Amino acid sequence: MAIQRGGFSSRLGFILAAAGSAVGLGNIWKFPFEVGKGGGAAFVVMYLLFCFILCFPVMVAEIAIGRNTQRNAVGAFKALGYKGWSGIGYLGLASGVLILSFYNVVAAWAFGYFIEIVTGHFDIGQRFGEFTKDWITVGAYSILFMVGTAFVVSRGISGGIEKAAKLLMPTLFVMIICLILYAVTLPNAMEGLKFYLVPDFSEITPAVIYSALGQAFFSLSLGMGALITYGSYVSKNDNIVTSAAQITLIDVSVAVLAGFMIFPLVFSQGIETDGGAGLIFVTLPGVFQSLGDVLGIVIGGLFFLLLSFAAFTSTISLLEVPTAYLVDEHKVKRSKATWVVAMVIFIVGIPSMLSNGASEALSQFIMLPGAVKSLDFMSFVGLIANDTFLPLGGFLISVFVAYVWRKHRFNQELQIGAESLKGSWLQSYVNIAMSYICPVLLGLIFLVTVMDKFFGIKLLEKIIGS
Ligand code: TRP
Repeated sequence: MAIQRGGFSSRLGFILAAAGSAVGLGNIWKFPFEVGKGGGAAFVVMYLLFCFILCFPVMVAEIAIGRNTQRNAVGAFKALGYKGWSGIGYLGLASGVLILSFYNVVAAWAFGYFIEIVTGHFDIGQRFGEFTKDWITVGAYSILFMVGTAFVVSRGISGGIEKAAKLLMPTLFVMIICLILYAVTLPNAMEGLKFYLVPDFSEITPAVIYSALGQAFFSLSLGMGALITYGSYVSKNDNIVTSAAQITLIDVSVAVLAGFMIFPLVFSQGIETDGGAGLIFVTLPGVFQSLGDVLGIVIGGLFFLLLSFAAFTSTISLLEVPTAYLVDEHKVKRSKATWVVAMVIFIVGIPSMLSNGASEALSQFIMLPGAVKSLDFMSFVGLIANDTFLPLGGFLISVFVAYVWRKHRFNQELQIGAESLKGSWLQSYVNIAMSYICPVLLGLIFLVTVMDKFFGIKLLEKIIGS
């Protein structure tokens, strides 16, 4: 019996859902502080290059695998006849569970901040440590966020995921534009924009290149089969290459726009830019407070609602990966699969929730070789899943497509719904990237991370010699 999988009702629906997956905390929370750490515009340039040169072809590959097989991340490799390679899918499932387990906690902070700001509690920025330590409050927001996510996913593709994306993505876009228009009128806005836009190429170090690469990959939701899964719901009439280009463009635009919003806000108060993860949660509430009660609530509330929306369309895609696996491979009913997976992931996330102050042991979870200070549990899970599993997954996907599934089959799939692609430079580029650029760069980033973080060996410095 064929199972009823559902699918996106339109190309736009797919683009918005995939862009919703890509646009997330990575764009609005992480991108600005990576820019701050990486010396401003030089990081932005590297990030843009990696998105188009490296990530776009991987995205094409994931969507093609999904659409060709109409299966989840594990089942897709089996359907192609390469059972052994379905290990990539299992790695993806593990990444999805781990990433969502802590991503949901940060999403809960964002939503909690929205509530605090609209109730006029601007001092929340100074109480960030206290807030994350208060596991009962954070736990309640986490449950809320996970329940919302599961609700959407349980309703299926066109009736749940697509509908949410069609509502949230345009709203998100309008919100971000409003915030930018306001932010650039603030004093010192130009200073902020200058820092953001004028590259100082002397700031480009191996470490900056490395973090731009990782950021690009994470931001585009690659390496764990999220886009294999979404791709499996795409119609045969759609042009995969153009869709992937549009998704990449939307994701990159939102990250770039987030900078236009955040740097003027931050510089308006003359604050240091390398504020790290606290840039948004510690610094911004003070900025909103300085706008006065009414405007502060409006602008600040809008900002944290934007952040919550962006996170929400991403948690949806993270939950969909293991859900689709259970639905396809184990014939579990979608609603049951969704709620079970959501509950398991919530439980897996409890130690992450406690590792930001509530539990001493989890907050200083592990001291890795060569590190200066110990990592909390949440950062450790991030290190394993984001920084290690994703590049490994991406590496294996590109090797699989280029050398196992083989280019002629890959290209056949790309040409469905895309007559004009045949023989175009774009197709040649995607092929070259799959065979050489992606495996080399992704394999390298995986190796560098493992050697550096787990063994304390600085491979990057040895290779580049600085
Ligand atoms: N891309 C999202 C962000 O930038 C996070 C995300 C959602 C993700 N789904 C993913 C990352 C799948 C990797 C793989 O916040």
